[in-house]
Amino acid sequence: MSQNDLHDAHGHAPTNPQRRQLLATAAVLAVAPWLLSVCTVPSASTASNATNSGILPPSQRRKLGTLEVSSMGLGCQWVSAAVEGSVSDFYSSTIDRKTAINLIRTAVDSGVTLFDTAEAYGPFLSEEIVGEALQGVRDQVVIETKYGFSFDPQVVQARGGRDSRPEHIKQVVEGMLKRLRTDRIDLLYQHRADPQVPIEDVAGTLKDLIAEGKVLNYGLSEPGIQTIRRAHAVHPLAAIQNEYSMLWRGPEADVLPVCEELGIGFVPWSPLGMGFLTGTITAQTRFILNGSREFRADVPRFAPESLRAKMALVDVVKTWAQRKNATPAQLALAWLLAQKPWIVPIPGTTKIAHLKENLGAAAIIFTGEELRDLNATVAAVHIQGDRLPAGVLQMSGVEAPPKR
Ligand SMILES: NC(=O)c1ccc[n+]([C@@H]2O[C@H](COP(=O)([O-])OP(=O)(O)OC[C@H]3O[C@@H](n4cnc5c(N)ncnc54)[C@H](OP(=O)(O)O)[C@@H]3O)[C@@H](O)[C@H]2O)c1
Repeated sequence: MSQNDLHDAHGHAPTNPQRRQLLATAAVLAVAPWLLSVCTVPSASTASNATNSGILPPSQRRKLGTLEVSSMGLGCQWVSAAVEGSVSDFYSSTIDRKTAINLIRTAVDSGVTLFDTAEAYGPFLSEEIVGEALQGVRDQVVIETKYGFSFDPQVVQARGGRDSRPEHIKQVVEGMLKRLRTDRIDLLYQHRADPQVPIEDVAGTLKDLIAEGKVLNYGLSEPGIQTIRRAHAVHPLAAIQNEYSMLWRGPEADVLPVCEELGIGFVPWSPLGMGFLTGTITAQTRFILNGSREFRADVPRFAPESLRAKMALVDVVKTWAQRKNATPAQLALAWLLAQKPWIVPIPGTTKIAHLKENLGAAAIIFTGEELRDLNATVAAVHIQGDRLPAGVLQMSGVEAPPKR
């Protein structure tokens, strides 16, 4: 099925040549593409097969390149917790390993077919949990994972730095296949561009792995724009995975137009703004639990002053959630799903109740007018403070070095 078929399948207008031209023009003029996209959304609600049962119906599947996945995935990003046998997310939740496995299995039973993880999450631990949880249902699901950092497998810790050398990629894929208990990785991303390795070498390596059947599709996370084009020229990319939500709309400027132009899918990470868009964070929240700082404590946009300034966004989400008879988390995810029919968010959670709630977002449909209003209201909120700590942010949007 082509991307155009996909648009039809989701009740959106097909991407025709004029529309592509319009978007290309928008990119050239640096106009936010969603401003144009909402002009082509039907003005009345489109019929939807979704129910609010927290189950994703197969009729709502989306495409990342040629890879078919459920309209939402599940983020599986856990590290070892202080208590033996427990895992923590990067935030303030800790669950035991059995609960994590149960969460993944419940997601499968609820129609989720896309599971996102990475070698770096743990490291290795999250891939092991995903592999264990998906035993017996492997053929019904799509596993996506990521390489690109350097870890010492003997002591399971970071060596520091990025590593996308072809021999390293080939070596880490073997470890991933073992941990994920599978013979192929459906979608393998470079986690961050390696400033030492031309993307042509990376894409060529992935092309080899695809020819061997060990990898079925590949993608890039937080790449530079020219890096996307250069990789795609070597072998077609299935997906770009970047942060994108009402809280961080950076991809609208250039990444989404390039994806649209080249027929590449888009997977937004932190689609709930690291929990901010769920309405559970207040201006007084400080991200320090039992004396220890969690990830958001070091993120500039969550510093006390920045947090206070953007509570207006939470008000927008809550108001619209009420209007659409939804929860704030559902509203935030539905907004992402409405932007493009080839966007597949991967919210993270440690709770089955939240998982079910989040899947309910697929039942929410905006009219063209509603989406225009909501987009304008979201755009009017000023977001201050960098989205990530400086050391992490500097790895985003990096162009891989030229091939000599
Ligand atoms: N490519 C990359 O570089 C990259 C970077 C970061 C993340 N990721 C991927 O993206 C996935 C999602 O991102 P994320 O976990 O950083 O952020 P997120 O999905 O935006 O937010 C997760 C947070 O929201 C909370 N939450 C989820 N559903 C909720 C609900 N219905 N009500 C209230 N709170 C809710 C979770 O807490 P509870 O546990 O309490 O639900 C958690 O604190 C990750 O799991 C990972 O797979 C990729």
